[in-house]
Amino acid sequence: MRLLDRYRPAVIEELRSIFEGRTGPPYSLMRYHLGWQDRDGQPIAGRPGKLLRPSLCLLCCEAVGGDWRAALPAAAALELLHNFTLIHDDVEDESRQRHGRETLWSLWGQAQAINAGDGMFALAQVALIRLRDQGQPPARVLRANQMLAEATLRLCEGQHRDLAATNEHEITPDDYLEMIEGKTAALLAASAGIGAVLGGAPTKTVAALSAFGRRLGFAFQIRDDVLGIWGDVAETGKSVDDDLREGKRSYPVVLALASGSSETRAALQQLLARKKRSAADVARVRSLLEEIGARDESERAARDHAEAAVASLAGLSLRPRRRQELGRLARFAAQRRA
Ligand code: IPE
Ligand code: IPE
Ligand code: MG
Ligand code: MG
Repeated sequence: MRLLDRYRPAVIEELRSIFEGRTGPPYSLMRYHLGWQDRDGQPIAGRPGKLLRPSLCLLCCEAVGGDWRAALPAAAALELLHNFTLIHDDVEDESRQRHGRETLWSLWGQAQAINAGDGMFALAQVALIRLRDQGQPPARVLRANQMLAEATLRLCEGQHRDLAATNEHEITPDDYLEMIEGKTAALLAASAGIGAVLGGAPTKTVAALSAFGRRLGFAFQIRDDVLGIWGDVAETGKSVDDDLREGKRSYPVVLALASGSSETRAALQQLLARKKRSAADVARVRSLLEEIGARDESERAARDHAEAAVASLAGLSLRPRRRQELGRLARFAAQRRA
């Protein structure tokens, strides 16, 4: 998506400057994760992350009439925070592949991945404080800091729910929404809201854009769940077996458990009751989900959330061009292939 390329060079430059002078481990492990170098420390020309959170932040800053350059440190902080959660998430989910490469913990072990993730978390704070150098008033910097910290707590709550829900049969679609609000939508809400704060928006607009980001986040995670079962690995760079093997309560699974016929539900429950599933079990779960129509229904749900996000922008006073682009970003979240 071209929109995601607009701010890319500036965001990458800001990110790289935060790493300046920080050589050797654990920074080399973080650089590996970010796709800047291979496992031996040789520079590579990958472009792994989509930079969705920085883009949303900077777009919202512009949408309310702000100068996106003055929000760049926040954009970098959001991306670092996001990547801290990815490093830990891959340990939590036992995922060996991300961005088409071996995950950090697969190469250096879980203990070093936890440590490198912690370092990335701290770098996000370092990045955010640099807002002061952009002439942002201290009150705005503090507000951004508070929003980021609250979103991180929601994220930890969501990750807790995600892990606790695994192998749990009684998860309803409402439980699911509560879980993804935390693990994914809260940070997207904060990305949009922080962009609005730094663009000087009034409180009501900040709240409205945060709600937009949250709704976009619902679409984004449901789409992520679909890609985690039926995606093209060459495009997503992630396994299509991990979620089903681990017994994740992703949206298609939750839907199927809530709405499938009693026979298919029983077959599914039996497969999902095991601690882990073999490759053959995974294939069987996938085809049961397809039979029930859970894939189509999930794709529809993602699109509905995106449309609700777009509709929520209607009453706001935003730069017209940027409003349109926010709409495109929400639809992208629901239909992306990577
Ligand atoms: C992956 O997020 C984790 C989820 C919240 C689903 P992204 O798909 O935005 O990750 P990258 O940074 O672009 O790889
Ligand atoms: C998404 O987790 C949320 C976070 C990473 C905090 P998932 O486990 O659903 O995302 P992927 O598919 O591993 O990127
Ligand atoms: Mg995961
Ligand atoms: Mg996870």
